[in-house]
Amino acid sequence: SRPVIASQRTSLPLWMVALMVFGVLAVLGVTIGLLVHFLAVENNTYYYEGNFKVTDIPYNSNYEKETSEETTALSKMIETQMIDAFQASSIHNQYVTSQVIKLFPSSDGVTVNIWLMFKSTLGKKADLRRNIESILYNMLKNNYASLTSDPSSLKLTEISKVNAEKTINNRCGRRAKLSSAYDRIKGGSAAQEGEWPWQASLKVKGQHYCGASLISNRWLVTAAHCFKVYKNISDWTVSFGTVVKPPYMKNKIKDFIVHENYTPLAHHDDIAVVLLAEPVRFTNNVHSVCLPEATQNIPPGSDVVVTGWGALMKDGKFPELLQKAPVKIIDTEICNSAESYYGLVLDTMLCAGYMEGHIDACQGDSGGPLVHPNSRKIWFLVGIVSWGDDCGRKNKPGVYTRVTSYRAWIASKTGI
Ligand code: ARG
Repeated sequence: SRPVIASQRTSLPLWMVALMVFGVLAVLGVTIGLLVHFLAVENNTYYYEGNFKVTDIPYNSNYEKETSEETTALSKMIETQMIDAFQASSIHNQYVTSQVIKLFPSSDGVTVNIWLMFKSTLGKKADLRRNIESILYNMLKNNYASLTSDPSSLKLTEISKVNAEKTINNRCGRRAKLSSAYDRIKGGSAAQEGEWPWQASLKVKGQHYCGASLISNRWLVTAAHCFKVYKNISDWTVSFGTVVKPPYMKNKIKDFIVHENYTPLAHHDDIAVVLLAEPVRFTNNVHSVCLPEATQNIPPGSDVVVTGWGALMKDGKFPELLQKAPVKIIDTEICNSAESYYGLVLDTMLCAGYMEGHIDACQGDSGGPLVHPNSRKIWFLVGIVSWGDDCGRKNKPGVYTRVTSYRAWIASKTGI
């Protein structure tokens, strides 16, 4: 028979047993810790897309247009109501932002497509979703802001971060990242990546030459005078992103169309459109700005922003990073006064900056955007950097091509 050796097994030293127990406990502890962390502590971002129907609005095709007054008014009303509802709710700590993406008018009302962003822990995901639904349902049931809606039409779907950003990036004038920090330039400051995603650099033989604005995945708007000297398409490239030197994305151009009434010695009709050889793929950092309707009026005193890689002062250095400068629309009459431009500013132009000077566009900013955020913080291209007497001089603000005056011209050339 076999010798009995079982007694040897029990002779495992105590310290080894202790070590093994300790090891098992450590693994267990870490596992529980990680689980708790991901289920209950770590805040994840969740995105939702939703639809509901507002019923008592007569059919109007203008609701299909992103830039119409009707779209802005109705979207703003709904957005205000959503913000109020979520901020007054039990989940206000998890609420990040919400907005109207698109309106679909029909014979019996308008279907509203919304986009929501929340922060929550994985373990509370199902609760969160139920809460969002009931808050929206109650908002609709209460016939908010005198709008009648059908609460039973409400549909909410969770969407991935990639699809959520795609939705934003495919709409003009919006930013996918909603950091609170967002909010030849003289007196400006460096821009953040993704802050002005429509800004392009038009380059001649690889060197920055002019600014431009992306208005679709193939078309840019710029100044006619950028094409005064270099007319050979193969000399030109376009880049995006905030850094000009090693450009983030480089594109060839297929064509440029200069306004037929532009003459090199004058400043009028200083507008051109540029067709890219390949369409750009929209990302958080590269997508289009909205074009205003021809009738849109931007009153004097409005806050606008000019951006570009132009000189930091007259005959000054050129920055590597995109610069932004906050300026204000100036009344054309004041801009045409004797101590200012003395009648040189036509009604197809607009002045922006400060009569006292200091903050202005400068050499190399030409063709670039002057943008205005509407009441919904959607950005519109209102001006194109065109001319000015030096940079930031007293009584000599920047003069821009007035985009609304050329809205029909842009449409005739690009179909946008
Ligand atoms: N013409 C200049 C250019 O080609 C831009 C002039 C803008 N000047 C101004 N002071 N705002 O870059």
